[in-house]
Amino acid sequence: MVQSALRLEVTSDGIGILTFDQPGSRANTLGQAVLAELEATVGQLKARTELRGLVMRSGKPGMFVAGADLKELGAMRPDPELNRRVVRHGHEIILGFEALPFPAVAAIEGGCMGGGLELALAFDYRICSTHPKTDIGLPEVKVGLIPGWGGTQRLSRLIGPSLAAEMICAGDSANAERAKQIGIVFDAVPPERLLDEAVRLVKWAGETGDWRVVRKRKQQPVGLSEEQASFTFAVARAIVAEKSKGLPAPLAALTAIEKGCNLPLEDGLKVETEQFIPLAGSPISRNLIAVFFAGQRLAKDPGVADTSVQPRDVKTVGVLGAGLMGAGIAGAHVRRGIPAAMLDVIPAALEKGVAAITKVMESRIAIGRMTPAEMVAALGKLTATTVLNVMADRDVVIEAVVENEAAKTALYKQLQPILKPDVILASNTSTISITRMAKVWPRPENLAGMHFFNPVDRMQLVEVIRGEKTSDETTVTLVALAKKIGKTPIVVRDCPGFLVNRILFPYINESLVLLEEGADPRAIDKAATAFGMPMGPITLNDLVGNDTALYAGRVVNVAFADRAAPSRILDELVAAGRLGQKSGAGFYSYAKSSRGADDPAFAAILDKVRHGRRAISPEEITDRLFLPMLTEASRCLSEGIVRDPSDVDMGLILGIGFPAWRGGILRWADEMGMAKVLEKLKQYERLGERFEPTEQMRRLAAEARSFYFV
Ligand code: NAI
Repeated sequence: MVQSALRLEVTSDGIGILTFDQPGSRANTLGQAVLAELEATVGQLKARTELRGLVMRSGKPGMFVAGADLKELGAMRPDPELNRRVVRHGHEIILGFEALPFPAVAAIEGGCMGGGLELALAFDYRICSTHPKTDIGLPEVKVGLIPGWGGTQRLSRLIGPSLAAEMICAGDSANAERAKQIGIVFDAVPPERLLDEAVRLVKWAGETGDWRVVRKRKQQPVGLSEEQASFTFAVARAIVAEKSKGLPAPLAALTAIEKGCNLPLEDGLKVETEQFIPLAGSPISRNLIAVFFAGQRLAKDPGVADTSVQPRDVKTVGVLGAGLMGAGIAGAHVRRGIPAAMLDVIPAALEKGVAAITKVMESRIAIGRMTPAEMVAALGKLTATTVLNVMADRDVVIEAVVENEAAKTALYKQLQPILKPDVILASNTSTISITRMAKVWPRPENLAGMHFFNPVDRMQLVEVIRGEKTSDETTVTLVALAKKIGKTPIVVRDCPGFLVNRILFPYINESLVLLEEGADPRAIDKAATAFGMPMGPITLNDLVGNDTALYAGRVVNVAFADRAAPSRILDELVAAGRLGQKSGAGFYSYAKSSRGADDPAFAAILDKVRHGRRAISPEEITDRLFLPMLTEASRCLSEGIVRDPSDVDMGLILGIGFPAWRGGILRWADEMGMAKVLEKLKQYERLGERFEPTEQMRRLAAEARSFYFV
């Protein structure tokens, strides 16, 4: 027998308690099977003449309803007729609850998201528990959609269109306290009183008839005057347009609210549907949903194929180096309760490191993401030292000293007699071979790379790099440790540049080649940001530092010389002391603002190295930047640098801000189709091997397949 997700009990005084508890799942979601059950239930409820009221609650601890089934949403195709039918079906169920012949209360504890809130909005009242997991919102824009079951309309009528737009267009949610304050819920009560209070409320509503008033109000237009509406929405549109960076969902949500809120609910729902349909099954939405699932896959991935390998229990870590990265890494550990000892040779560097850690925590307190007590506790777990012996009892030691192989290996040798014999040693190097450094370590199976990104407190990605001899146990231990401190680890096989920088460099390099051919730096940056990158490659060089970019780029470019066109620009800039933002000038000048201004002094340097003055179209710039990235990504995949195409895509999304709505570089290619990709590459084959399709790409094109669907 199929187990039911809904269970109805009736109290002796005629109140129906409907418990939503989807079997075999940690969350309640509104997939087709559950919707069919809800539909049948609402039909039965209508006929139960003995009922005086209904309370709906969840049977899952800390979770009301997570929303629509994302697997089903991700499988949607851009088929307007079909999608319209799906939307209508949802509306009918929700309208059924809204029209029950007795008052109804949704008793919310835990996450109440998307479709879950849209269902709860059909009830006459919502009451929530103050459980820390209570979180109420309509996050659809985060997967490229808008609420489609009346959320834009009912929330606007409940809390006002301005606030509703603010929440929906950003996909923000509210905790219990805020939900009460802005009126999404009638009250917020301690968890143990939730059911009793919900029952009390439904009875009170029945006795006073208040529910009829509430219900009637919900059907009405919100009644904004023309003046109020034009002011409210003009401001909101400007904000949303700026924040959404050209993505359609937030603006569509705003349009649904603007055009629907002053109509009767029934017509408002139609307006919402018209805005929803073009987004449903769109590539942007499908990509964002795919990225969500890729994140979930990584969260569950132990890091190796053999699931019997268990991570070691890491109770303490040591961090070598208190510089930019070392301080970030030590701070990330103590913040999650893992004691960290940070070592440096220079006392002043330690002081600066501790100050940097403190500053990050203070800024977290300022935005309410940490309490002063938590900061005190975290700092209590931090040791700053110049004494090597402090590392003697550490389970894992992460090395983040200067990027110099001799310095790193000399330190390893110095520490070897001090550290526990089976310690796991992880280097944060960006460019040095892990396999080579492991040669100086008596137990190379215990040495790996653990490559954090800068700034550590904000960047989620950690590449866990396996040298030739790194063991499965070391790998799973570092993967588990990275997750414990809230990061997303991706396991990468050792190679120059590892995964992210290896794929990033062809893009950076091509931007320099384009400059030499005559492209304008601003035009290059603009093409990249129009594609969706957070900043252009020229600005990125200035930010990272042109000395660092030159040095790191050299490692990759020497290793892959067959496909790296040489460029002299970085050498010239470094020779001229133009290191980027940190020195006040690089490609741009930062004398007046950190945004960077055009600089005639750079134009003079460029003139020296330029060998052309060709007008280059934005389309060519885009192709030239992203196609070499793609061929390198395909090489990484074919060489087994990572184990799954989504590792490549997630690495780029989390590591360099590749636009998530494109799904990553491989999904970008899949969407274009491999035949088209090859056609594009053909146009540039004269430029060399970086524009040559890989064997894998040729095969996929010949067999009409794609990276993900092989
Ligand atoms: P940094 O120059 O800010 O810090 C290095 C620190 O190591 C200095 O405080 C120095 O005094 C200390 N140090 C040098 N030799 C030492 C020794 N023998 N024992 C103890 N401490 C010693 O450098 P940063 O930027 O923090 O880089 C550290 C490592 O992280 C490098 O391997 C770098 O490639 C890597 N990395 C850097 C990133 C960045 O964006 N800066 C990003 C990812 C990795």
